[in-house]
Amino acid sequence: CSGLEIRRPALGFNTWNAFYRDINETLVQQQANLMVSLGLRDVGFEYLVLDDCWAEKERPADGRLVGNKRTFPSGMKAMGEYIKGRGLKFGIYSDAGSLTCAKYPGSLGYEKEDADTFASWGVDYLKYDNCHARRDYWILDRYAAMRDALNATGRPIVYSLCQWGVMEAHLWGPKMGHSWRTTEDIRPTWDSVLKTLDYNVGLSRFAGSDVGWLDLDMLYVGNDTGLRLGEQRAHFALWSLYKSPLMIGHDLRDFPKQSLSILLSKEVIAVNQDDLGVPGDLIWRQGHKRIYAGPLAGGARAVVLANFQFAHPTAFQQCPRTNITVFWGQIGLQPGQRARVRDLYEERDLGEFVDSFTGSVEAHNVLALRVTPLNGPLDDG
Ligand code: DGJ
Repeated sequence: CSGLEIRRPALGFNTWNAFYRDINETLVQQQANLMVSLGLRDVGFEYLVLDDCWAEKERPADGRLVGNKRTFPSGMKAMGEYIKGRGLKFGIYSDAGSLTCAKYPGSLGYEKEDADTFASWGVDYLKYDNCHARRDYWILDRYAAMRDALNATGRPIVYSLCQWGVMEAHLWGPKMGHSWRTTEDIRPTWDSVLKTLDYNVGLSRFAGSDVGWLDLDMLYVGNDTGLRLGEQRAHFALWSLYKSPLMIGHDLRDFPKQSLSILLSKEVIAVNQDDLGVPGDLIWRQGHKRIYAGPLAGGARAVVLANFQFAHPTAFQQCPRTNITVFWGQIGLQPGQRARVRDLYEERDLGEFVDSFTGSVEAHNVLALRVTPLNGPLDDG
């Protein structure tokens, strides 16, 4: 089992979906500064993760990885110091094969050297991919080798499994790492968000604060991501409910206020970071209406009412709505129970309800709720 306490999903920013191979020191510094100035650090986005393409193309003769001298001229230790100087944590990427997916050196056979190098640079988080892997070398052994090497450094390093191409990792990822990817790469389309959600139905039982988290991949919240605003709200609320790591995957230099306000939704993030550490899941579905829910610390429930109605793009102007009812019996409360319902994006109490709550939900959007049972007429919860 990984040495670092798993407790909560990691929150941060990852360079891959925003910049792919085209990363450099100045760009990363800008993103670090923006994580602070946009208020993202203060709501919990703390890891800045450099994905693939940060290294020199060839592993040096002494075996020790170095940062790409052209794009990261100050070196990786300095890069990490810059990031930490902003009150953030430093994440990096490697691969359990001979090469990374973009054909930079992988860590296979160099697990100890690379873990030591990362620790000496002050790395706090490692995303570990699975390209160019030897098929005769069992994946569990390859991932365990890096886990053990990280543990041996004595430095707490979040170990994020990105076991590309091997998607049944819920059977072995728990306790191996802090999180494991459940799908292949998310794409900037609503279809891809839905596909990811459908793939994860029923997987929540494999995850939690004692074993690790389902990683639904990065967030396409931001400007011109291919997702409408309501779709971005749905995406963020449901990734939060599943207690996926929340990794921003969009250039922070180009962030409209409305998308930023989604990422700054403290009460939605609080569902993701809740002390109980039990992921939610799909609990009911009828046609395009869905209810996702999960327990929170103190007996409350997180509930997401989702309207995934098909609508022609032009119909969005009229925002077709539908009513969705969640019954207390569906979320483990007593049918006659009185409960307070709060809208988490609006940060507003909607009132007290007995037995059920009905919300009106826009197409391709959600109502993200907290349902807090109240014990009696004088109990304010
Ligand atoms: C595949 C992963 O799924 C992506 O998130 C990214 O890390 C790329 N590899 C990098 O090559």
